Amino acid sequence: MLTRTDAKARGLADLPPVKSDSLIALIGMVNADPRSDKIDVGVGVFRDGAGNTPILKVMKEAEQRLLDTQVTKAYLGSAGDKRFAELLRPILLGEHAGDQRIAGLQTPGGCGALRLGFELIATANSQARVYLGTPSWPNHAPIIRAVGLETAEYPYYERGQGTIRFEDMIAALRSAEPGDVALLHGCCHNPTGADLSEEQWAAVRDVVVDRELIPLIDIAYQGFGRGLDEDAFGVRLILSACDEVVIAQSCDKNFSCYRDRVGSMWVKTGAAKTTATAMGHVNQRSREMWSMPPDHGAACAHIILEDPELHARWLVELDAMRDRINSVRQRLASADPRLAFIGRQFGMFSMLPLSVEQVLKLRTDHAIYMADSGRFNVVGMSDEQIGRFTAAVVEALGA
Ligand SMILES: Cc1ncc(COP(=O)(O)O)c(C=O)c1O
Repeated sequence: MLTRTDAKARGLADLPPVKSDSLIALIGMVNADPRSDKIDVGVGVFRDGAGNTPILKVMKEAEQRLLDTQVTKAYLGSAGDKRFAELLRPILLGEHAGDQRIAGLQTPGGCGALRLGFELIATANSQARVYLGTPSWPNHAPIIRAVGLETAEYPYYERGQGTIRFEDMIAALRSAEPGDVALLHGCCHNPTGADLSEEQWAAVRDVVVDRELIPLIDIAYQGFGRGLDEDAFGVRLILSACDEVVIAQSCDKNFSCYRDRVGSMWVKTGAAKTTATAMGHVNQRSREMWSMPPDHGAACAHIILEDPELHARWLVELDAMRDRINSVRQRLASADPRLAFIGRQFGMFSMLPLSVEQVLKLRTDHAIYMADSGRFNVVGMSDEQIGRFTAAVVEALGA
């Protein structure tokens, strides 16, 4: 990671090397492996039964419509495509869609939304500490540190048991100071797949309210877990109880348009007027960082969501992605009692209780690539590869 140096005389040639992100390094290793039967469950993209990440059919159609009908590429402004954000409102916010204290804008993917959310928090309170689950998505901590905020940890997952360390999580959040931030995964927890139950969400809500914390909810996989509305349960429950909420949302997965960078960021405060002021800051930060988000992917999502027929077809394609995720989960879970926990989890990721040595042995002996932590993408493998993957993992787990 790049750490700032304050030595004034230093030039670019003196920069220390950056330790590359381990998941990016893993992609390099997979590409360099000449074995034709290699299995890449490291990368975080949806793959279908044939092992491909196809462009959704509705997305292709929307792209064609965009090509045929777009008449200008003039600037849109730092909030991007405002209609895109409006169309997302009911999908994300449900019964809160009409709440004028909540405002949102388009961002470059979920990463852009997270960065913007933390920029806003840091602008309001540079002393806020961000409580982050252990483990969490590896890019969370760097984004938080990049805006100058401090992180604190709450225990989240017991890898050996496949369960959430809920009491420890609550105890850690109880120790937070008013104004601190609780970073929560809306659904399909990355890297563990272990989602909070409805009762657990209610308990988290109570602590957040009691301790006057600001919840920042990262929802990157809505529709990949139980369903679009079901996956937004936590977001909506927290919105019901809290006056100050930040939400970072990604459309890159549920529209399967990863490299097009489609997402949104949402702010709720206690009054429409203060939300408007907060959005003024958000727009200013957006302008400083990327001026305006890339248009193409959001313009296509806009076309899809605006058109009832395309919208319905998107839901069908989204259902098919979710069905594959959940059916592969069931197949893995039924292969061995020690893998049963995978069937109780959601989204693309779970963590195998393997040591780093065991993970490395899977790479060497079986050309199976997953993160050192044992995190793997349940739909990283094709249908044909599932049997070989499961046999190798069961062998690695030992007798
Ligand atoms: C939990 C989580 N949040 C945010 C993101 C960022 O999503 P995007 O690719 O839209 O920036 C990811 C992507 O892997 C993620 O897993």
